[in-house]
Amino acid sequence: MHPERHRFETRAVHGGMAGLREAGTHVPPIELSTTNPLPDVEVGGLSYEELATGHDLGAGRSAVYQRLWQPGVARFEESLAGLEGTDGAVAFSSGMAALTACLIATVSSGKPHVVAVRPLYGGSDHVLESGLLGTEVTWATAADIARSIRPDTGLVVVETPANPTLELLDLDAVVAAAGEVPVLVDNTFATPVLQQPARHGVTLVLHSATKYLGGHGDVMGGVVAGPTDWVEHLRRVRALTGGLLHPMGAYLLHRGLRTLAIRVRAQQATAQVLAERISAHHAVGRVFYPGLPGQDPQGLLGRQLDGPGSIIAIELAGGYDAAARFTEACELVTHAVSLGGVDSLVQHPASLTHRPVVGEAKPGAGVVRLSVGLEHVDDLTDDILAALDAAQAVTPPLEVPALLAR
Ligand SMILES: Cc1ncc(COP(=O)(O)O)c(C=O)c1O
Repeated sequence: MHPERHRFETRAVHGGMAGLREAGTHVPPIELSTTNPLPDVEVGGLSYEELATGHDLGAGRSAVYQRLWQPGVARFEESLAGLEGTDGAVAFSSGMAALTACLIATVSSGKPHVVAVRPLYGGSDHVLESGLLGTEVTWATAADIARSIRPDTGLVVVETPANPTLELLDLDAVVAAAGEVPVLVDNTFATPVLQQPARHGVTLVLHSATKYLGGHGDVMGGVVAGPTDWVEHLRRVRALTGGLLHPMGAYLLHRGLRTLAIRVRAQQATAQVLAERISAHHAVGRVFYPGLPGQDPQGLLGRQLDGPGSIIAIELAGGYDAAARFTEACELVTHAVSLGGVDSLVQHPASLTHRPVVGEAKPGAGVVRLSVGLEHVDDLTDDILAALDAAQAVTPPLEVPALLAR
């Protein structure tokens, strides 16, 4: 491997594979051992000390215990870090476990104040708003970030493109506004194929690996890519709190990275066509998709984001009723939460993924979020246009649940 001269696709296929040829095998083994035999007490103790304080598994050391070091997890982390262009990465059992570790690390550094820009994924919004982990949040617009920073601010948290309505943020501007404060970007929607935030000075790049990195809806995981000091701190947090990625999950995520570029670009090509076709339907109030005219006012496509991705949010003109009918009428597209897999999914954020979000920050009751998969674009078009026809059929209005009222 020559990471310095190989292109993204090559690194995605070959990253994290060191030593396999010498070992006489072609794909990484799935090692399930929770514990590892120790040569003697001294090596065992020193190894424990090094791993529990966040260091790499050095030569002549034992991996000791799965919560401290797991070879398949380390392979996935190495490959992902190579794609994000960071020193390293730390993998967790879910995207929320990854965010939790970042917030615990922030609080334990003595700076518990977080500045965050909405919209964020509903779970991220909720964990910050609740203060459950000892953080105190100030919600800011992108323009307010600098003004919101305090001496005890330990982290700036943003998501771009944001879940569910694809708002874009200029990462150079966010990093400049944050000054000395580290910036965390949730890069789940873009993936490193379309956006590499570390190249814009972002400190921590977070993924719900459950989505595009895995890509097949069969593995839950999270990962944070960043500089060595953060990697060590996050490993310490993981060793203590135990949110480790399972070796089987690590294998599937590592394998998912190998096809990531081709999946993301194919799904994106379909999403662009669908977004254009859907926009013309009379049941549609608005389509949120950065690839549509006027939806990238800052000119970030091409400069920061190498394409609009494959999530589309649709605001139904008929509001909650129409959104509910639309999700029920989709046949090829499955009505289910999650996103980023090979099959298309649709869901109603205000009722589901963004249910705990309060007040003005809650997505509109008429908004549905579509994750575009790898099906043929014409089959998806047929399904979605038929569901839009059904969505605007006149039926007795549904009662809007109190929770969705803003
Ligand atoms: C953008 C984003 N970030 C984080 C998460 C949380 O990830 P997980 O569900 O893997 O815990 C999600 C989940 O939907 C998400 O969409």
